Amino acid sequence: MKKIPVWIDTDTGVDDAVALVLASKLEELDIVGVSAVAGNTSLENAFRNARDVLSLVGREDVKVYAGADRPLFIKLFTAEKVHGSNGLGGAIIPLSKAEIEKDKAWDSLYEKAKELKGELVVCAVGPLTNIATAIIKHPDIVDLIKELDIMGGALIGGNVSPCAEFNIYTDPQAAETVFRSGIKVNMFGLDVTEKAYLNDEDCVQIASYGNKVSDLFRDSNESYRAYQSKMKRKGLCEHDSCPIMYLAHPEWFEGHECGIYVETQGTITFGKTVSDLWTDYKFEDRHCKAFLEVDREKFVEAIKEAYRSF
Ligand code: RIB
Ligand code: CA
Repeated sequence: MKKIPVWIDTDTGVDDAVALVLASKLEELDIVGVSAVAGNTSLENAFRNARDVLSLVGREDVKVYAGADRPLFIKLFTAEKVHGSNGLGGAIIPLSKAEIEKDKAWDSLYEKAKELKGELVVCAVGPLTNIATAIIKHPDIVDLIKELDIMGGALIGGNVSPCAEFNIYTDPQAAETVFRSGIKVNMFGLDVTEKAYLNDEDCVQIASYGNKVSDLFRDSNESYRAYQSKMKRKGLCEHDSCPIMYLAHPEWFEGHECGIYVETQGTITFGKTVSDLWTDYKFEDRHCKAFLEVDREKFVEAIKEAYRSF
């Protein structure tokens, strides 16, 4: 089976770490690069966490590149109360021994996209600052990325505000740059990612596997779990694992073609992803797919399988 070459851009927080663990175990995927962006936590933490999680799962061969330490135009606002001061909920894991890559995320992503001649799939699970910077600096990258699968946005509601989801809200100008670029965007917003949750029983089961990767899951999810229950969520929403899981199991997800614009002005609706999915009025620019449903049972079992296999 031909593996899908995937580049993961991440603000390596707690659910990002689960997504990296999952990606390292899905045989359908070939992780060809990872880049870190500020969002959940500082760029420094996101970069270190991505390197260290990949090392923990035995993938020090995957190169990790540092990207933006702040959004394109606005101040960085992190989610440390959710992901902890180190981005991994306070969990400590051994430092990676891999060489520190000096090239910038957007340049390395561009080089990899050129090398793969249009076959590269990008999964962005943090603010879209690195992706937007790559598009601004290397405009021809839009013809070299096969598809961009993002965790971000929400057609209904939000988490960081009543109208906006964290990744988009943190850098709406970057998000709008990406949505207007012409790259085919698969959007895994809160509409579907909040249905992709691990309940308490699932969490206890994963934490009981007794390997160093399941120990990271056990030790990093306390603050995240507390946040999710405060937000009245049904469990640990594994937001960032959705675009990753989709690449291996598209049949577990249901999405709809639509146009999506990002609100970059205003206050109340700042960072909102506006879709024409449910209106007769249709945007001219419609090259997105918004995902709304997931087969949760299969999703959860695949995550458990990944953690059992270490
Ligand atoms: O809103 C959820 C998103 O924000 C996830 O990517 C999580 O890691 C945080 O970045
Ligand atoms: Ca994230």
